[in-house]
Order: sequence, then structure tokens, then C-alpha cells
Amino acid sequence: MRILILGATAEASALAKRLAGDNRFQPTLSFAGRTASPAAPPIPYRVGGFGGSEGLAAWIRAEGIRAVVDATHPFAARISANAVKAAEAAGVALATVIRPAWTPQKGDRWTSVPTPEAAAAALGPVPRTVFLATGRLELPAFAAAPHHRYIARVIEHPGDVALPPQIDFIYDRGPFNAAAEARLLADRRAEIVVSKNSGSAATYGKIEAARALSLPVVMIERPDKPALQAVNSAAQAMRWLESRQIR
Ligand SMILES: NC(=O)c1ccc[n+]([C@@H]2O[C@H](COP(=O)([O-])OP(=O)(O)OC[C@H]3O[C@@H](n4cnc5c(N)ncnc54)[C@H](OP(=O)(O)O)[C@@H]3O)[C@@H](O)[C@H]2O)c1
Repeated sequence: MRILILGATAEASALAKRLAGDNRFQPTLSFAGRTASPAAPPIPYRVGGFGGSEGLAAWIRAEGIRAVVDATHPFAARISANAVKAAEAAGVALATVIRPAWTPQKGDRWTSVPTPEAAAAALGPVPRTVFLATGRLELPAFAAAPHHRYIARVIEHPGDVALPPQIDFIYDRGPFNAAAEARLLADRRAEIVVSKNSGSAATYGKIEAARALSLPVVMIERPDKPALQAVNSAAQAMRWLESRQIR
């Protein structure tokens, strides 16, 4: 059975690992191509946009795809909307991985906001040292709060975009554990953390570290992710694929 997995997330990688060598399925993993050097997956893959929902529907038809697993990031809402439209247009099954969001625990000091722009405003008028762990696409929003000093952890430099004037980069890729995150926050004298509520175990260390150090966190909450049928993990996505396969 030809299947398409939309990545790139830990769940997409875990599903690719489960599918590698499983001759019931012929999978293709799709990357948007945002990162110049994604880790090579153990199954066939392609890179780049499809050209909206019509392009995705055309690709699904041309490749004889029977089922699609949307395992894109919780904040990637456009591709998920395209996947819903394309699956309906091409008449194929679609499951969307909706990873549970983090919820505040005892000792957490979160301010929840809906957008990166609201996060920049929530940092307030007093200059602070801000640990920005949002990813590079959100950095331009913080140009509107130029009085803070930012430490931005990114996989790659954001390129030629508007940035706040006082910004240092740390280039690194998760997973990050809580003890190392606490050391980093203390060494850099961070006073506040900005995070997206990705719900990922691989990036939860900074939230635990902020709790341990009693630092406030500005938490950017997720957009609604369009879906037809939701699953919450790679294991559930695999069971869903197996249930499609025997029909
Ligand atoms: N947003 C985040 O915070 C975040 C964090 C980590 C990883 N990611 C990953 O980075 C990618 C882009 O995120 P985004 O927030 O920019 O997405 P988005 O706004 O939902 O999608 C923008 C466009 O990127 C293309 N695209 C997205 N995912 C694709 C995929 N897996 N394969 C092929 N094309 C894809 C589509 O282009 P066409 O319309 O031309 O098909 C889509 O319309 C996603 O794959 C996502 O899983 C995002």
C-alpha cells in the first residue's frame, strides 16, 4: 500500500523507523525543506512544497497513494489544512498526529499568549535577558521589542530578516535535557523563557529547567490543527495504517 507521511517531527521519524523494511507498505516521507540538512530517513523521501492543496491532491493521485499520515508540527497549520482538502479531493484516508500539548505543573510561571507578536508584547517594558526557544521563523516578531537582550537557540541562522538589535545565537538541535537546559539558562543569566507549546518530550527540558529556576515562561499556544481523524503518536498512526491495510 502506497502511503505518504508528512514530516518533519519526532513522530514522523518514529513512524518512518517502524515502516522501514515493512513490506506491507510503500511509504514516502515528505519534508517541507526548511532545514538545509535534515537527517536522512530510513525510507524513501522527497523535499519541497506540493503547490497548495491542489498540488498535493495531484501528487497523491499521480503516486497512487492510498493513505496519508499528517505528522507535521503542531504549529504547521497550513499544510494540515491542505492535507484535509487534498485527501477529500483525492478520496484517500487521512490521519493527523495531534500531539498532546504541555499543561502547566505546580511551580510553573506561564503567561499563555496566542502569537509570537503577543509573546514579544508580554515581555513588558523593562529590559530583560530573554531565552528564545521558538525556532527561527518566529524571531522577526521580537524586533518589535528591541529593548530586551535575546539569546535565540536555532538550528540554522534565520537569514536576511528583521531581528531585534541585541541578539546572540546558539546553534543546536534537540533533544535537550532539563539539567543541561538549567545550566544554560543560569550561565546565560536568562530572566525569562519564550517557548511554543509544541508538546514535544525532546524540548520539554527548558520548561522543567525554568520551573527549577523559578523563571517565568511566555508560552505561545498552538493554532487549531485541521484534521479528519486524529491520532496522538507514531504507534497509533501505525495501528491506523494497519487497519487501513486489511480493508
Ligand atoms: N512551525 C513550526 O513551529 C515547526 C517546527 C518544527 C518543524 N516544523 C516543520 O516545518 C515544516 C514547515 O512548517 P510551517 O509551519 O512553515 O508549515 P505550514 O505553514 O503549515 O506550511 C507552509 C507550506 O510549507 C509546505 N509544507 C509544509 N510541510 C510540508 C511537508 N511536510 N512536505 C511538503 N511541503 C510541506 C507546504 O507548501 P505547499 O503549499 O507548496 O505544498 C505548505 O503550504 C513542516 O513540515 C513542519 O512539520 C515546523
